[in-house]
Amino acid sequence: MIIDNLVEIHCHITPGIDDGSQDIETSLKMIERLKEQGAKKIVLTPHYYSDTISLDDFLRRRDTAINALLKELPSGSPTLYPAAEVFISPYLFNNDNIDDLKIAGTEYVLIEHPFSSPFGEGEFDRLMNLYCDFGARPVLAHIERYRALMEDKYKLDDLIEMGCLPQVNISSFADAPRGIRKKLFKYLETGRVMLVGSDAHNLTTRPPEYEDGINAIIKKCGKEAVDVLIQNANTLVK
Ligand SMILES: [Fe+2]
Repeated sequence: MIIDNLVEIHCHITPGIDDGSQDIETSLKMIERLKEQGAKKIVLTPHYYSDTISLDDFLRRRDTAINALLKELPSGSPTLYPAAEVFISPYLFNNDNIDDLKIAGTEYVLIEHPFSSPFGEGEFDRLMNLYCDFGARPVLAHIERYRALMEDKYKLDDLIEMGCLPQVNISSFADAPRGIRKKLFKYLETGRVMLVGSDAHNLTTRPPEYEDGINAIIKKCGKEAVDVLIQNANTLVK
């Protein structure tokens, strides 16, 4: 399946830096796989845990890994954009700025929460502070993993109102538990899912594969729903 102008906005392809690809060879194969599916742009989002490593150290490691990858990247490959999947913690706010974590020169940052996060007042405050302190707007990574958001659409609406962009892992539309899938299609139909990504970590258990998820969306919501998602990603990463 080829998805015209596919933009990957969530993946762990950067070699040897997190629990994603462990070597350049795997990274190149993952990039090639995305290219075969139509990707022209790939935002690299290695995990950044601000409670375990300083931002400077993380950026140094990330950029060294990306530079090594770029040296081996064949011409005609998708363009790579360095970013991060940022685990939100109080330590994050010790930094002067987080510009280097933002997606492709935008004001958006891919943000992940603890799975058990209730998305209560504390989380809302912190997300709001991202904007106040850093001018950063959150792309909310894999919303389907958070019970609080799956069970309460109004919470999600409040986050959207605040300027957050909800992201879903594409495979979840095909293989998440039935109840979650049902909710995801409903959220998609009502404009609450704005972005998808593969969240690929490797070539086997969590591969950069879009086909099953895209087909599931087309079957339930029509091709237009896919077009909107692709368009949203292209608007984000110009
Ligand atoms: Fe991820």
